[in-house]
Amino acid sequence: MRLIKVKNYEDMSQKVAEMMMEKIRESNKINLGLATGGTPKGTYKKLVEAYEKKTISFQHVTTFNLDEYVGLAPNDPNSYHYYMNESLFDHVDIQTSNTYIPNGIAEDLKEECVQYDHLIKISGGIDLQILGIGQNGHIGFNEPGTSFESGTHIVKLDESTINANARYFNRLHDVPTHAVTMGIQSILQSKEIILMVSGEEKSNALQRLLNGEVTEDFPASALKNHPNVYIIADEKALSSVFVS
Ligand code: PGA
Repeated sequence: MRLIKVKNYEDMSQKVAEMMMEKIRESNKINLGLATGGTPKGTYKKLVEAYEKKTISFQHVTTFNLDEYVGLAPNDPNSYHYYMNESLFDHVDIQTSNTYIPNGIAEDLKEECVQYDHLIKISGGIDLQILGIGQNGHIGFNEPGTSFESGTHIVKLDESTINANARYFNRLHDVPTHAVTMGIQSILQSKEIILMVSGEEKSNALQRLLNGEVTEDFPASALKNHPNVYIIADEKALSSVFVS
């Protein structure tokens, strides 16, 4: 894992957008793994700004999102489909047919999971995966205890995750209890991974990732088994971290 320190959220967003654009520009066809939540929002904004300045095109980009809530339709404002359309897809020249997000209202969710991994595989795998990290160390919605061998699967969300995400919903009660997520193994099969970490509330998780052991109790630690991971962390996220 290579740690890149940046000053704040704005700089993290800029840095990651630049890293993504460099990859997009250097290839004729690229598969990006995308994340949702507060962390990558600024990065998507930077990508939209670059598109508006005509310095980047998404014509040859295919995307696979990490996860989706079970039970939320794509037009539900809290779904990750909606988030992606609003944050990125509706504002750039990506072909809608090249954007994939797990279907949280599939009739057969287990089959949806199998098909999602299959689709990634036959598309040639993910070239660059963007990740955030949960306060409990989750990546995607892989909560502590998830097998490192896991493919895309259905998860019951941790109470801490439900509480952290409640800010987007009217009532705590409205936060879905389950999600479909790419598994740890699905994530580790990406050729390159960028983990974004911003804010003091993530500093304990970052400390444990950098200085703790590799264990399924802390899903992000699986990234230590991957040869090509960049961590882009801001000063607040690094505030509890001892970096030698
Ligand atoms: P956040 O979530 O970006 O909204 O903090 C990250 C995560 O839970 O993976």
